[in-house]
Amino acid sequence: MTRPNLVFPVIATTWCLLLLQAGSSSPPPQTAPAPALPPSNPCIARERDALLDLKAGLQDPSNYLASWQGDNCCDEWEGVVCSKRNGHVATLTLEYAGIGGKISPSLLALRHLKSMSLAGNDFGGEPIPELFGELKSMRHLTLGDANFSGLVPPHLGNLSRLIDLDLTSYKGPGLYSTNLAWLSRLANLQHLYLGGVNLSTAFDWAHSLNMLPSLQHLSLRNCGLRNAIPPPLHMNLTSLEVIDLSGNPFHSPVAVEKLFWPFWDFPRLETIYLESCGLQGILPEYMGNSTSLVNLGLNFNDLTGLPTTFKRLSNLKFLYLAQNNISGDIEKLLDKLPDNGLYVLELYGNNLEGSLPAQKGRLGSLYNLRISDNKISGDIPLWIGELTNLTSLELDSNNFHGVITQFHLANLASLKILGLSHNTLAIVADHNWVPPFKLMIAGLKSCGLGPKFPGWLRSQDTITMMDISNTSIADSIPDWFWTTFSNTRYFVLSGNQISGVLPAMMNEKMVAEVMDFSNNLLEGQLQKVPENLTYLDLSKNNLSGPLPLDFGAPFLESLILFENSLSGKIPQSFCQLKYLEFVDLSANLLQGPFPNCLNISQAGNTSRADLLGVHQNIIMLNLNDNNLSGMFPLFLQKCQNLIFLDLAFNRFSGSLPAWIDELSALALFTVTIKYVHR
Ligand SMILES: *[C@@H]1O[C@H](CO)[C@@H](O)[C@H](O)[C@H]1NC(C)=O
Ligand SMILES: *[C@@H]1O[C@H](CO)[C@@H](O)[C@H](O)[C@H]1NC(C)=O
Ligand SMILES: *[C@@H]1O[C@H](CO)[C@@H](O)[C@H](O)[C@H]1NC(C)=O
Ligand SMILES: *[C@@H]1O[C@H](CO)[C@@H](O)[C@H](O)[C@H]1NC(C)=O
Ligand SMILES: *[C@@H]1O[C@H](CO)[C@@H](O)[C@H](O)[C@H]1NC(C)=O
Ligand SMILES: *[C@@H]1O[C@H](CO)[C@@H](O)[C@H](O)[C@H]1NC(C)=O
Ligand SMILES: *[C@@H]1O[C@H](CO)[C@@H](O)[C@H](O)[C@H]1NC(C)=O
Ligand SMILES: *[C@@H]1O[C@H](CO)[C@@H](O)[C@H](O)[C@H]1NC(C)=O
Ligand SMILES: *[C@@H]1O[C@H](CO)[C@@H](O)[C@H](O)[C@H]1NC(C)=O
Ligand SMILES: *[C@@H]1O[C@H](CO)[C@@H](O)[C@H](O)[C@H]1NC(C)=O
Ligand SMILES: *[C@@H]1O[C@H](CO)[C@@H](O)[C@H](O)[C@H]1NC(C)=O
Ligand SMILES: *[C@@H]1O[C@H](CO)[C@@H](O)[C@H](O)[C@H]1NC(C)=O
Repeated sequence: MTRPNLVFPVIATTWCLLLLQAGSSSPPPQTAPAPALPPSNPCIARERDALLDLKAGLQDPSNYLASWQGDNCCDEWEGVVCSKRNGHVATLTLEYAGIGGKISPSLLALRHLKSMSLAGNDFGGEPIPELFGELKSMRHLTLGDANFSGLVPPHLGNLSRLIDLDLTSYKGPGLYSTNLAWLSRLANLQHLYLGGVNLSTAFDWAHSLNMLPSLQHLSLRNCGLRNAIPPPLHMNLTSLEVIDLSGNPFHSPVAVEKLFWPFWDFPRLETIYLESCGLQGILPEYMGNSTSLVNLGLNFNDLTGLPTTFKRLSNLKFLYLAQNNISGDIEKLLDKLPDNGLYVLELYGNNLEGSLPAQKGRLGSLYNLRISDNKISGDIPLWIGELTNLTSLELDSNNFHGVITQFHLANLASLKILGLSHNTLAIVADHNWVPPFKLMIAGLKSCGLGPKFPGWLRSQDTITMMDISNTSIADSIPDWFWTTFSNTRYFVLSGNQISGVLPAMMNEKMVAEVMDFSNNLLEGQLQKVPENLTYLDLSKNNLSGPLPLDFGAPFLESLILFENSLSGKIPQSFCQLKYLEFVDLSANLLQGPFPNCLNISQAGNTSRADLLGVHQNIIMLNLNDNNLSGMFPLFLQKCQNLIFLDLAFNRFSGSLPAWIDELSALALFTVTIKYVHR
């Protein structure tokens, strides 16, 4: 539910999030499609006409409603299901269909409509039609992420048979409600999803929800709620199983024991998410009463500890306490956990000290152990290897030291994420060891892996992100490297003594997007780089020869090649790298004029539009210490984002263009222009 806490450079963060973030709110309710009608009763004409009116008002660019023609609306029309019993249209499911436009009032002719979903369409920020409140038979109404906006019509409170209501609203300008009194009439409501609906002025929210005795699942994620649930404590919500109030500011910061959270008394409550709620302090003792809890999500708060009663949570399986302010000895904290065996323990980003316990104790069933970014010290105990279901082991950025051997890892067949960066750990394994696992992410920065290139990595051809920088490898890059890691998107190998040459096949076979091989002993020529590469850092190696005539990577944003022995001209193809932001070619042997990027437009067309397309994004251009000559690079006039420009120690000639002042005015605060004529 949260991102893994491997320490990778910022550049990977978003990517990493996409890869691993799993939503922590429950899925919206699903309605099972009813079996099709016998053909004898194809469709009630009045209802078919109503559907045709509806279609006429809708925009349907992808022709999702193409099947809406002919008489047999019950059997043949996409998304329409009729009641087997009475032949009336009972269900209308038009989800993620690219539909928008107007909803015709004829919809009201569908008097037996029990279930309607318009989720994931785009109604262009229009309000939810009030007329939905007149569809009296409605049980399941799903309007999530459909780009409705404005006031949630209180008319929905007339749908007294409603069981599920999903108004999740993270798209577009968004929905709001100033009070939830209308909800209190929905006595049958079981599932309510209002994530993203602005409720910042709906101070009555808790009171109104308390009128819903059937409520089982509640999401009020990111609703801007400010006031917590007030006493008195008698609560009607005895059916509540899942509550998600994450991302609400409340009166932050909130001393958690002062917040009155009657949840802990709900007899069936299994899941509570209160992430990013500004909660402070120690969780209250009375939460130990909440023995039905399975999932407790409290990441991103300011909590400082667990109550002594925590042990009573004998059903707890998933505990998320990352990015809080819990200090003290980790062993003492682990002693407070219930005995039943957690599946997930997230404690990264706290201030825990001490060392891991000598016995695995109650941690034996863990799938995810995420304790990065603390101050935990000591060895990695051998019992880690007994956690046979582990998929994610993240110990980065602590004070662990010592050696991890293949015996620690020999039974971890399910391991996908291994994060050991920023400790003082060495990994020692036989060169021919084939681990039982296939990693997706290996964060091993600053571990001792060398001096030989670790042979066990050869089997890890599933890795998408790998950081083995600063790992004391002093070896040539093995032949298998380029094939094993041809599916790796993110490589960091910097700060080793890795030697060898870059192969010619990188362009066709590798999917890499980020390659940082800086500060090694690579030599030979730079060939075409992987097609989708955006970040290339080969600085501080010993590459020689000319730059490739064609880089082969049109999306390149960073090209960092300083301190090599590259020679020859900067090729004209440089001008085609139109997403470039950071360019550092300093301290090489490049010569000749800078290519004239102003003139590279298609077919010699130098219209103004073409000129503007070239290199507008450049933020840094460092050409210091080469042998470049010719005029000042004129294309820079178009680079309004330029912050750093260094042309010193070259043989450029001529006068500085007058517009250079203009350029420095446009740039941010630290314009550095050096133009030294040698
Ligand atoms: C939602 O509608 C608004 C208003 O028409 C539009 O500007 C916006 O692009 C839409 N947003 C999404 C995410 O579809
Ligand atoms: C439905 O609700 C609205 C607003 O809550 C109310 O004004 C209206 O009278 C109700 N309509 C019916 C038919 O009950
Ligand atoms: C929610 O509504 C309040 C009051 O109308 C407004 O001040 C606030 O900016 C809104 N919040 C968001 C996230 O739109
Ligand atoms: C409990 O719900 C009933 C109706 O469902 C309501 O009358 C009563 O006021 C509620 N109790 C509290 C404490 O809100
Ligand atoms: C909850 O647990 C506490 C002890 O931690 C106990 O005194 C109390 O009676 C229980 N019930 C409630 C409603 O707090
Ligand atoms: C964390 O807790 C310590 C006391 O243990 C306190 O001094 C510090 O201010 C807290 N930090 C934050 C960010 O709340
Ligand atoms: C690992 O998971 C399996 C089910 O997936 C379970 O049967 C087994 O007991 C688990 N092992 C441990 C050590 O919890
Ligand atoms: C490299 O690793 C060593 C040993 O772990 C560490 O002391 C040093 O700070 C690391 N250097 C960098 C640049 O991370
Ligand atoms: C580059 O990215 C595109 C779009 O994501 C993809 O279709 C293509 O296969 C990728 N090329 C390589 C070599 O990975
Ligand atoms: C760099 O490569 C050149 C040959 O291209 C070689 O003569 C030189 O010794 C290398 N320098 C280092 C530090 O390896
Ligand atoms: C573009 O190139 C042509 C010749 O190829 C030259 O005459 C012209 O001056 C160049 N334009 C600019 C803006 O550099
Ligand atoms: C240059 O491009 C413009 C539009 O981008 C076009 O109208 C014009 O015909 C082109 N000229 C040449 C010589 O290709």
